[in-house]
Amino acid sequence: MDTILNIRNLSKNYGRIKALDNLNLEVKRGNIYGILGPNGSGKTTTLGIILSILKADSGNFEWFGGQFGSNPRKKIGAILETPNFYPYKTGIDNLKIVAKIKGIKDFDFDEVMRLVNLEHRKLSKFRTYSLGMKQRLAIAATMIGNPEVVIFDEPTNGLDPKGIAEVRHILKRVSESGRSVIMASHILDEVEKICSHVAIIKNGKLLSTGMVGELLSDNYLIEIGAFNKEKLEQFLDDFEHLNKTRFMNDYWICTVDKNTPVESISNKAFNAGLILSHYIVRKQSLEEEFLTITKN
Ligand SMILES: Nc1ncnc2c1ncn2[C@@H]1O[C@H](COP(=O)(O)OP(=O)(O)O)[C@@H](O)[C@H]1O
Ligand SMILES: [Mg+2]
Repeated sequence: MDTILNIRNLSKNYGRIKALDNLNLEVKRGNIYGILGPNGSGKTTTLGIILSILKADSGNFEWFGGQFGSNPRKKIGAILETPNFYPYKTGIDNLKIVAKIKGIKDFDFDEVMRLVNLEHRKLSKFRTYSLGMKQRLAIAATMIGNPEVVIFDEPTNGLDPKGIAEVRHILKRVSESGRSVIMASHILDEVEKICSHVAIIKNGKLLSTGMVGELLSDNYLIEIGAFNKEKLEQFLDDFEHLNKTRFMNDYWICTVDKNTPVESISNKAFNAGLILSHYIVRKQSLEEEFLTITKN
């Protein structure tokens, strides 16, 4: 599959704040690529740089293998902020204005209004739209000119649950129309529901990347329970490279550094006279990893 975007060793500082720290990402054609990270992790900065709105301090990025130059804007549709639509003009007239600004003549505005479920309201004035409808019109605006890639930054921010569900549904449809999608989000659930691929970033660094659903971290998780709860806690607290993360009904979930031989844990427990009631070793899931990441 072709690479549509390659980001290499991107770094960016705002004064003393390190927003991006040697970030590497690769997006392939057809991906619905989620950049997932807590607030302040560098998502918007990354999008700003690949859209040539911001300049990186070092590193580089390449769109479409460099075929169309460094800023092939015609191939990319993006909303970074809510665009300035005219409140007293209709939805469809607003789209026509966007098309004019972009220099696009022949375009099927009705089709794109159908795609974002606004066809029935296309002749209503923008100011009468709900927040969710405004966001959907913004999505429609990114589609003008049939870009190959569309980019969204936190597309469901500020929407109510119904609006969120609608926007998610539309983003799926956008991707099904054969476009690649890059979206930034701090919401794991959203990325899991919409995206095919995910890159988890924190403090401007890539922590892990892969297909949604298959992405597992290198860390092990153990579930460990014992009849004597105090003794178990003491045992876990004394164990190096092991962190208690959550207490479930009657066992602890702990992350274990990938270099720790997990077999040694049950042996050590046995030698310490601790009788285990529950012991399972598994790889950490995306959700668990993201919880660990966003916790501190
Ligand atoms: N214009 C700016 N001036 C100073 N610091 C900024 C600016 N924009 C972003 N930052 C800082 O850079 C870091 C990354 O921000 P941002 O890319 O907006 O993260 P995200 O989109 O993941 O929330 C944060 O620490 C943020 O406070
Ligand atoms: Mg942001």
